[in-house]
Amino acid sequence: AAVSADVVVNLDAPGPVIAKHIYGQFAEHLGRGIYEGIWVGEKSTIPNIRGYRRDVVEALRHIHVPVIRWPGGCFSEIYDWRDGIGPRAKRPTRVTMNWPNTIDTNQFGTHEFLDFAELIGADAYVSGNVGSMTPRDMAQWIEYMTSDQPESTLVQQRKSNGRDKAWRVPFFGIGNETWGCGGEMRPDYAADVNARYAIFARAPSGYPMVKVASGASVQGGGDFEAFTTAMMAHMGATQALSFHYYAMPDGAKGPAVGFDEDGWANELSLALRMEPLVSRTEAIMDRTDPERKIALFVDEWGSWYTQPPEAPEGAHYQQNSLRDAMVAALTLDIFHRHTARVRMANIAQMVNVLQSMILTDKQKMLLTPTYHVFDMYQPFMDATPFPALVASPTYTKGKVSMSTIDASAARGKDGKLYLSLVNVSPNKAAHVRTNLTGTARGRLLTAPQIDSHNSFDAPDTVKPVPFAGRVEADHIVFDMPAKSIAVVRID
Ligand code: AHR
Repeated sequence: AAVSADVVVNLDAPGPVIAKHIYGQFAEHLGRGIYEGIWVGEKSTIPNIRGYRRDVVEALRHIHVPVIRWPGGCFSEIYDWRDGIGPRAKRPTRVTMNWPNTIDTNQFGTHEFLDFAELIGADAYVSGNVGSMTPRDMAQWIEYMTSDQPESTLVQQRKSNGRDKAWRVPFFGIGNETWGCGGEMRPDYAADVNARYAIFARAPSGYPMVKVASGASVQGGGDFEAFTTAMMAHMGATQALSFHYYAMPDGAKGPAVGFDEDGWANELSLALRMEPLVSRTEAIMDRTDPERKIALFVDEWGSWYTQPPEAPEGAHYQQNSLRDAMVAALTLDIFHRHTARVRMANIAQMVNVLQSMILTDKQKMLLTPTYHVFDMYQPFMDATPFPALVASPTYTKGKVSMSTIDASAARGKDGKLYLSLVNVSPNKAAHVRTNLTGTARGRLLTAPQIDSHNSFDAPDTVKPVPFAGRVEADHIVFDMPAKSIAVVRID
C-alpha cells in the first residue's frame, strides 16, 4: 500500500535567493572529461563547433549551466597555464601527475576553456594552484585573462593568441584540497598560504572576481573543524570558502549499477550527510562571520563508485542510474535549505567522470538521469525559497533510515511557485498531501529498476514524463510512484 505524507509550504517565510550557481558543474582534465567529452578538435569527424562537440554543447546550453569550475581538482596542482596557450601544434604534452596513465596534450587550455564557458553561457571559475605555482605566476595568469591594459605584454600576448577583449572570470580558486593533493598542508599553514596567494591574485581595479579559499573535507582532510576554523580565522583577500564532499563509502565503494536495495539505501544516506556537514560548516563560519559575508561553495560533490574494469585506471568513469538522480535531487534540496551561506556548488563532474551529466562513447552521447534532474530543477535557479515542512513515514533498510519524502518549494523568477518532491522508497508509492491550492503540472522522473540507467543503445530508458497533481478537499495532492522525483509548477 502507498504511504501517506504531508508537505506544508510556509509562503510567509521567504528565504535568501537560491543562487543559480548552486547548479554549477566541475570539469577536470581527468579521464575523458575534457578530451572526447568536451573537446574533440576542429578536425574531428565528431560534429563540433570550433572543436567542442556539438551534442554536448547543445545539451549543456539546454540546462543553462550557470558556472563551470576548471581545470581541477587534483589535476590543477601541477598545471602550468603557459603550457595551454599559443598555437596548439606547439603546446607541450605533460604527464598528469595526480591521475595515473593520463597525459595532457594541452590542446584545451585557457582560451579553449573560457571560450567554451562563453559558448554555453556559463560563468567561469578558474582554479589556480598553490602547491606548485608561484604567486607571481598566478598573478600573471589573472592578468592574462582579465586585463585590458594595452601596454601589458601579457595582454598583447593574449591578443596575438586570438583574444582581444579580457574575459569575464567571476570566480578564481586559490588552490584545491590543500590538506591533500594540493600540498598536504596543516590547517594554519594552509590558511597562511591562502592569504599569501590571494593578495597577489588581483584582477584590475573594479573587476568583479570572487576569490575562493580551498577548505576542508571529512574524507581525508584531517580534522574538519580545525581546518575550517583555521581558514575562517585568516581568509585574507578571499570572499568564499569551499569544502568537498562525495557520497562515497569509506571502505569498498561498490558498483554504479547492479547493486541491491542496501546499495540504494546506503548511497542515499551518504548523500544526506551533506546537510549536517553544511550545518556544521555554517556554525563554524558564523562564529567569525555572523553577517555571512563569506560565502560557502561546495565546489565538488556527487556520487563516487568503483569504476568498471574496462575503464582505464584512474579515469573515474562510472554509469549513472536512477539512484544518482536521487542523490542529485536530495542534494539540491539540501542546498535550497541553506541559501544564506551556500552560494555555489559544483557537481563532479560534467562529462564522463564520476556523477556525470553526460556520457560519451566516441560519436555517441547520452544524457544521464542526473542531467534530467538538473533540467527539471531549472526553475529553482535564482528562485526565492520557502520552508517546506515534511511529515512523512520513515524509509528503513538495514541500518539506514530516512524520511520517505523530501520536498523543496520556491518562487521562480517568473513569479510562479515550484515544488520538488522526492519519494526515496524503492517499493512504496506515496500519497502526498499539501497545503497548496490551484493546479500543479510538471515532470516526473522514475524507472522500473533502482539501477535503471541510460545506455548508448537505449539512451531514453530513464527520462522525465509529464506529471500532475490532483485536488482533494480543496488542496493539491500528489500520487508519487515508488523511487520517483517530481518538479511541478503551481498555478
Ligand atoms: O573530482 C575528482 C577529484 O576528487 C578531484 O580532482 C579532487 O579535488 C577530489 O579529491
